[in-house]
Amino acid sequence: MNPTATSPPPAPSAPAQGRSAQYDAFHAARARTNLVASLYAQAMGEDYPVEVAASSSCDWPLLGLLTARLRMHPGQVLVDAGCGAGGIGLWLARALAVRLTAFDFSPVAAAQATARRAHFLGPAADRAVFHVGELENTDLPDGCAHGIVCVDALGGAADRGAALRELGRVLAPGGRLVVTRALRQGAEPAWHEQVAAAGLTQEHLDERPGEPAMWERLYRLWIAHTDQLRRELGQAPAENMLHEAHRMLPKVRGRRAVLLTLRRLPSAPAGEGAADRMAAPDRHPGDRPASSKETPQ
Ligand SMILES: C[S@@+](CC[C@H](N)C(=O)[O-])C[C@H]1O[C@@H](n2cnc3c(N)ncnc32)[C@H](O)[C@@H]1O
Repeated sequence: MNPTATSPPPAPSAPAQGRSAQYDAFHAARARTNLVASLYAQAMGEDYPVEVAASSSCDWPLLGLLTARLRMHPGQVLVDAGCGAGGIGLWLARALAVRLTAFDFSPVAAAQATARRAHFLGPAADRAVFHVGELENTDLPDGCAHGIVCVDALGGAADRGAALRELGRVLAPGGRLVVTRALRQGAEPAWHEQVAAAGLTQEHLDERPGEPAMWERLYRLWIAHTDQLRRELGQAPAENMLHEAHRMLPKVRGRRAVLLTLRRLPSAPAGEGAADRMAAPDRHPGDRPASSKETPQ
């Protein structure tokens, strides 16, 4: 699903519990059948990373961009924000030899992601931890992440500015947040103020020219498989997907999709070889109490 598109129903202003329940139903239904993955695969063709099996526009070109833009070192901490069933974070954790802490407000997604750790990381499975958390309230310590990815999830935040500030807080000096965004063709990007308010600077903007056409193919496939989706996913999850498809199909052609790389400037002065070296985070996310809601912000 594409949370830049999923509302209504339910709108981002709906209580988080209601919105996460919809995603719970989607992730649970998706795991019962191969149909959804197979439609993503048809829509993306050779660009579909089978093993990752994302619920988003994540294709091979995006994985390549994420890898290149994060510029992470082995052993550093990557956060996957709005991780869904975890494929993107786990793939990156293996490829970059980094530690992963990831969260989603859907408990079903977090549980599915946890179950996939061994597949990607084998005996090093505990290098990845997943928890239930919200974009606006991650429960993660200040400055704990050297890199953050957020793929097709920011649109699910009730307050995108608050979500960016929260992710900026979690980022260590010198760290990078790589996030997908979309806007109407010709519209001015609305995120500059939000980025500055989060204490971040825009380092790169990569166009994703194939993204709108991929959604168009996918939405047509969902509509063409209406009966099968209802049968295999159940009425409610299928209706949510079909609602999204009908609502978004007329709009996707006019869409511009980008990948933003946002950086928290290194605290050490540039010119001393520190530009790409990051301050070590004080605390590793694993240090926090497992599901404490009292973690200081
Ligand atoms: C389109 S899926 C993408 C999942 C994953 N990033 C991927 O690419 O496969 C969006 C995910 O964001 C999560 N999400 C949406 N709004 C959220 C919020 N406010 N806080 C935490 N997670 C959220 C949903 O539960 C869902 O799993």
